[in-house]
Amino acid sequence: MSISAVRFLLNNDVVTIENIDPNLTVLQYLREERFNSGTKEGCSSGDCGACTVVVAELLKDKQTLNYKSINACISFVGSLHGKQLITVEHLKQGAKLHHVQQAMVDNHGSQCGFCTPGFVMSSFALHKQNSTPKRAEVLEALAGNLCRCTGYRSIIDAALASSEHAKADSFAQHYQQTVQQLLDFKTLPSAVLTNGRHNYSAPKSIAELAEKLLVNPTATLVAGATDLALSVTQNLATIDDLVYLGDVTELQRLENNAEEFIIGSAVPYSEFTPMLHNEYHELGAMIERIGSRQIRNNGTLGGNIGNASPIGDMPPALIALGAEISLQRGDSTRKIALEDFFVAYKKTVLNEAEFIKDIYIPKAKPDQTLKIYKISKRIDDDISAVLAAFFIELNDNIVTSIRIAFGGMAGIPMRAKHCEAALLNQTFNRASIAAAQLALTQDFQPMSDVRATDKYRMKVAQNLIQKCYLELQSKSIATRVVNYA
Ligand code: FES
Ligand code: FES
Repeated sequence: MSISAVRFLLNNDVVTIENIDPNLTVLQYLREERFNSGTKEGCSSGDCGACTVVVAELLKDKQTLNYKSINACISFVGSLHGKQLITVEHLKQGAKLHHVQQAMVDNHGSQCGFCTPGFVMSSFALHKQNSTPKRAEVLEALAGNLCRCTGYRSIIDAALASSEHAKADSFAQHYQQTVQQLLDFKTLPSAVLTNGRHNYSAPKSIAELAEKLLVNPTATLVAGATDLALSVTQNLATIDDLVYLGDVTELQRLENNAEEFIIGSAVPYSEFTPMLHNEYHELGAMIERIGSRQIRNNGTLGGNIGNASPIGDMPPALIALGAEISLQRGDSTRKIALEDFFVAYKKTVLNEAEFIKDIYIPKAKPDQTLKIYKISKRIDDDISAVLAAFFIELNDNIVTSIRIAFGGMAGIPMRAKHCEAALLNQTFNRASIAAAQLALTQDFQPMSDVRATDKYRMKVAQNLIQKCYLELQSKSIATRVVNYA
């Protein structure tokens, strides 16, 4: 059963859209269909935050709303089905500005004003989730918003000044009503959107998804759309058949047992990251450098793996950890090591009509340590030139097990097996590190592109082996900037 429409709340109004091109982004819908031009367009690629809007959705407990900032420019309109969309036009409280808006005025946080709606929406989302954020949390929430003229100090001050005042607003007053409306949406059948030429569907169960792909194996899967939407907004492509994974219940799995973490392929980063932080602090810290808060609110692990980019940040980290993934086609499933998933540049072992179901991340044994290094030009919201991950077990300073994986060094994310061999069963010292650095030249012949030259990539990768050694030898050596606040 499906409904040939997408239904959502625009602020407090129920909106039904049908007969519309599903390639339309939320930003285009707002500006061109509804003439709500408060949400701005800057880059149209998820990099500047000018288009930030907030989406509220029901958590699994069916009584709590999760307010997420997202980039409207790279979200397809169909993904709004069953949710509440809040834009800058909806923030005012009667005749007054919302507290996060008033704080921008009071702290002189806006000059030309172009970036301002985006900052306001990021700050609004932050305060709905956390009424007294610390400075570091404000920086994290605003890192995906670019201001070209005001300067960040006053904007950060405004976000800090909003504190508890932002809590008691009209959204709080309508909270129960919104919960009930979103609950009612949950009873709707799965959404379909078509303009006769391009189609969008949002299956609600894995059986429905598997069946759909068997019938139409060339359909394009989309979850957070943080990468796929760029093909529409930047390359001006048109996607004929989109199948949205965000409503498939089984792909939202999140499990933390004694041996491993199990993450459904359509769970966004911001939902699974807290679970990983305690076990693998460096992995959690690295994830906070993937895109921005807006990207992590929509982007998924399945998407990062499935698009098979050689510079995706999660695959090398997960390969080093020995992660596995399950794949499903029809009603048959198989489980493979993640490192066997990637075949060649942008090529994987996925068969026609097959999709990624779950990702299995093993927990560390007592003597195992994970070290991760992301090399990019900026701390936040940037793509890696090189990403190195080391999962190493030391006993009496002998390397008793080691897995090393790199991104950005080849056409696929992959292990450095010669490098591993140079260290395995060796004393962990400068001599074995030098041998590992040399062995790395047998593992990779990196390429040059806009992010880095081949020589730079090799040099920095070799240096990261040394950095890993230094950090494991002495916890007191300061090797990283840790406080940006
Ligand atoms: Fe720049 Fe959307 S317009 S992130
Ligand atoms: Fe001009 Fe921020 S106020 S870009």
